[in-house]
Amino acid sequence: MKYRFLVAICYLFTLTACAKTTLRTATENKFLMGVAVNVNQFTGQNPKEAAIINEQFSSIVPENCMKSGLIHPEENRFDFTDADRFVAFGEKNKQVIIGHCLIWHSQLPSWFFVDSLGKDVAPDVLKERMRMHITTIMHRYKGRIHGYDVVNEALNDDGSFRTSKFFQILGKDFIRLAFQYAHEADPEAELYYNDYSMEKPAKCDAAVQLVKDLKAAGCRVDGVGTQGHMSLDNPSIEEFETTLQKLSTLGVKIMVTEWDLSILPNPYKHSGANVSDRFKYTTELDPYRNGIPKNIQQEWNQKMMGMFALFIKYSDVIDRVTLWGLNDRDSWKNNFPVKGRKDSPVLFDRQNNPKPIVEEMIRMANQKY
Ligand code: XIL
Repeated sequence: MKYRFLVAICYLFTLTACAKTTLRTATENKFLMGVAVNVNQFTGQNPKEAAIINEQFSSIVPENCMKSGLIHPEENRFDFTDADRFVAFGEKNKQVIIGHCLIWHSQLPSWFFVDSLGKDVAPDVLKERMRMHITTIMHRYKGRIHGYDVVNEALNDDGSFRTSKFFQILGKDFIRLAFQYAHEADPEAELYYNDYSMEKPAKCDAAVQLVKDLKAAGCRVDGVGTQGHMSLDNPSIEEFETTLQKLSTLGVKIMVTEWDLSILPNPYKHSGANVSDRFKYTTELDPYRNGIPKNIQQEWNQKMMGMFALFIKYSDVIDRVTLWGLNDRDSWKNNFPVKGRKDSPVLFDRQNNPKPIVEEMIRMANQKY
């Protein structure tokens, strides 16, 4: 009896000693745990946040600095200042570095689609501009950036193609071309398609078809990113599970690329992450300026944990789970889709303290299945 008791104690002790204590270590055999980083964090202006990012996350993606408007402001001028520092930061931390994003209709420089008279360029000119944009970036970071969101948000929620300028000038072929140019530029880099609201059935089906078509056309596609911008009422855990099931039929990696969960009321049943969507500020839409009620915080905790449990359940197909921002203070959700609200959608609070669920997530990730 005494002996058994001793064995049980030793077992418990070993379990506790083996348990990994950060998100980064606890998830290491499941998926990459990533975070979107901002300029202050990777340029040394905020050493405290830089240290948390290194300690807790195994992968990083730039929140803004690699978007075309910032990295390629004029046709013949790239500005790599921030992107270089971003990549160096990830290397110093031995993190898996993701490039976001090569071709996107938003945060674009104004020169991209027009000629010197302001008229739309011909298809061949746009193709060449895309090729030059993609190639210059990917050559610079060859062997250093592990994978790229090659095309971001090419689909509407109903599954049709978004009528972006890329689409208007080149038709849906712009997507295939982007993947082709990317693979030619760096044959070793992983290439992903990324979009939001993938839990909308028509959109998810269209994404699945798109990846199949790209592969049938001979493109390298390594993964699909489902952004994962969520709110308390949308999507449900069941809906997100269906999305993961559908995407897993493709046999490519799945990434939750921009995970956050707004705690605020959802204006006009808004969903998704179409960055140009805007609603007028009202105090009713911003009810937690002076604190979050316990029951609402609990609801948020439960939903985050439910989603995280789902990610763990699908960890054989999920390659990476990336939070869209480190702390609530810097989250883009404070200004989207309503400007100037006080949201709390990510894992660290405004003072950079981990929320209580972080410990729970670590515990959950440490459990053996
Ligand atoms: C957001 C950034 O977080 C903001 O700082 C910026 O003002 C707008 O873009 N989908 C994407 C991300 O793919 O790049 C967007 O990031 C959020 C929606």
